[in-house]
Amino acid sequence: MKKKVLAAGLTVAMCLSMAAPAMADIQIAFSQIGQESDWRTANTDSINGTIEAHEGWELIYDDAQQKQENQIKALRNFITQGVDYILFTGVVSTGWEEVLAEVNEAEIPLILIDRLPDCIDDIDYVAAFGGDFVEEGRRQVAWAGEYLKSVGRGEEEVNVVIMEGTTGASAQTGRTEGNLAALEEYPNMKLVGQQTGNFTRAEGQAVMESWLKSIDKIDVLIAQNDDMALGAIDAIKAAGLEPGKDIIIVGCDSVKAAFEAIVAGEMNATIECTPLYGPFVEETIEALENGEEMSKEVIHPEEGVYDMEGGIDLGTVTSVAAADVIDERIY
Ligand code: AHR
Repeated sequence: MKKKVLAAGLTVAMCLSMAAPAMADIQIAFSQIGQESDWRTANTDSINGTIEAHEGWELIYDDAQQKQENQIKALRNFITQGVDYILFTGVVSTGWEEVLAEVNEAEIPLILIDRLPDCIDDIDYVAAFGGDFVEEGRRQVAWAGEYLKSVGRGEEEVNVVIMEGTTGASAQTGRTEGNLAALEEYPNMKLVGQQTGNFTRAEGQAVMESWLKSIDKIDVLIAQNDDMALGAIDAIKAAGLEPGKDIIIVGCDSVKAAFEAIVAGEMNATIECTPLYGPFVEETIEALENGEEMSKEVIHPEEGVYDMEGGIDLGTVTSVAAADVIDERIY
């Protein structure tokens, strides 16, 4: 009889433990910008996938659909919920002082990723990780300038257009700064157009269509991300021109679709900006949970440059042929 009661008691306890959801020890909230590009999708997958796969961690995710007001609302919701960590990247770089001060007042550790806010020096954060956007922009123009030299066109006057990302995003302001500074080094490259394509394929296509109607001759397109470059390729083909030949195209991000376009001869180069922040977020939170302190220094991942044949020397990096690495690219 005693045995039976014990067995019944055990069964009830087992059922209860199976029914009750395991309480997550750590709630990690992520305010993401939106899903404007292949890069962004890979970034979301890397971070969310890492958190979801980690035992005892719960993800609270918000997609702001490219709107700063949605991000501010999400950050305030995270504070109200009393989450344990906040991951933040800002759609634009200004206007975050107030809400990030509220995060600091709530004493929620703030991890900055990707597009860092301008007020970074006035707020408390535990770690920061993102691309070196100025260097990426410099590499874009330097790649075109060095490539032109390598094919004997270093003295030829060429017309350049710069397709910019979302206005006011640090990825746009940084890359534009790098683009313009590098153009000073190549006097044969003349800037004839500069406009935003909002980091999307559709707008990249529309902007290129209008440039092809209004600018007599375009020799080089610098697109501040690969999605806009791929949209522009569609517009160039529709206009009866050969992308990659009639117009040299340099993108940024190094997503698989850009590697495919390079291998097909329709795009010339792409500057890498890694979206794979999951491992950084995991290491950071594990270290903080173990009582370690993180450095406040912004960490820039090591990034490459990929093109048709490789071997273009940009000072800080030498390009690698996209065909040699395309199979390893997961995004
Ligand atoms: O902030 C990184 C940039 O944002 C990527 O280059 C772009 O593709 C994305 O949308």
